[in-house]
Amino acid sequence: MKTQVAMIGGRPSGLLLGQLLLKPGIDTVVLERKTKDRVLGRIRAGVLERGLVALMEQAGCATRLHAEGILHDGAMISYGDTMFRVDFTEHTGHPVIVYGQTEVTRDLFDAHEQAGGATVFNVEDVAIHGADTDAPHVCYTVDGVPQRLQCDFIAGCDGFHGVSRQAIPLNVRREYEKVYPFGWLGILSQTPPVHHELIYANSPRGFALCSMRNDSLSRYYIQCSLSDKPGYWTDAAFWQELKRRIPADMAERLITGPSIEKSIAPLRSFVTEPMRWQRLFLCGDAAHIVPPTGAKGLNTAASDVHYLYNALRDYYENGSPAGIDGYSEQALARVWKAERFSWWFSSLMHRYPDQSPFDLKMQIAELEFLRTNAAAQRAMAENYVGLPY
Ligand code: FAD
Ligand code: PHB
Repeated sequence: MKTQVAMIGGRPSGLLLGQLLLKPGIDTVVLERKTKDRVLGRIRAGVLERGLVALMEQAGCATRLHAEGILHDGAMISYGDTMFRVDFTEHTGHPVIVYGQTEVTRDLFDAHEQAGGATVFNVEDVAIHGADTDAPHVCYTVDGVPQRLQCDFIAGCDGFHGVSRQAIPLNVRREYEKVYPFGWLGILSQTPPVHHELIYANSPRGFALCSMRNDSLSRYYIQCSLSDKPGYWTDAAFWQELKRRIPADMAERLITGPSIEKSIAPLRSFVTEPMRWQRLFLCGDAAHIVPPTGAKGLNTAASDVHYLYNALRDYYENGSPAGIDGYSEQALARVWKAERFSWWFSSLMHRYPDQSPFDLKMQIAELEFLRTNAAAQRAMAENYVGLPY
């Protein structure tokens, strides 16, 4: 098989890039390790920045997002029984949209299928060859049958555990990492959200987040130990712990019900540099991970897609390699800012095992400052709604 751009990974980064490239007629093939159902089975992001929404519009996939997504003009932050609101729209002129990553992915799959885009599911043994030559290709197997895909460029959109990043030689690659000493236990339940906006809670028992997908589907998270397993937590134990971490009036009005999904995500900050090696480009979680506290992972994947799409388009339409040559630097400049915000917000909201009484006082002082200072709220709002591309 032959294509212009081979995409490894068929979740948001790969699908969105593939769908965008189809529009100006750039030929792509998306290779995905899992089945479509398994790709859609993972519950992850819920908050979309306007940059991602604009890309979905550009890709012709935003109709359902606009019909069903919920505009959020602000979010609540609590510590103990104190709760305050950061108004995103007042401070930046922009809201965020609550619309699940699963739905983004479903919309992209549907649009890709309708446009006749090529997605190969269930690929195994994916290997990148010749990314530093004029004849790159990707080898893989489907049902045990070896395949070879020749291409001009390879977009590594295969997440943190994919093969693309490893294809960049060790003497070229630099990795920066911070692993947090806790995870998030998340549940999805068919219950109305406790509040119409998200609540980020710092409590002496650890962080909690009240989020949602729509007015009858809630998503809640609690900070948990890295040794926890979802099976250790009954629904009753989860609800009891969540109630202890959010302000009392919210706990009182929380409607509980059976969980329809329960999973644990470890928290990590990670960046690999450069994001391009010759004819291989890294995009999204393949190149960087943020702790989910700032809701930046998928949104930062989207800014990579934006830069890479424009770079490839410029190359194919105008013969200009400038965008391609500048991709890594341009993407990384924004990535590091998202890393900073996610690290800062995570540090502000979680309990750390080695936190001293002084560290705790600093957290509370910083929360007090954020509660009472308009400039601090504005800085937070600007980052939360998404820095410009
Ligand atoms: P992935 O979603 O990891 O997709 C990579 C794909 O590549 C997968 O489908 C995988 O099967 C495939 N793949 C892997 N290896 C191979 C291979 N060898 N060959 C072929 N295919 C392969 N982000 C936000 O912006 N807002 C939020 O509110 C938010 N909340 C989150 C909550 C949680 C609990 C978690 C865990 C994450 C959250 N994120 C959020 C982060 C967001 O989910 C990720 O950043 C996003 O999924 C990245 O997309 P991706 O396409 O780059 O990578
Ligand atoms: C979610 O709804 O899954 C969600 C929302 C905000 C975050 C992280 C996750 O910061």
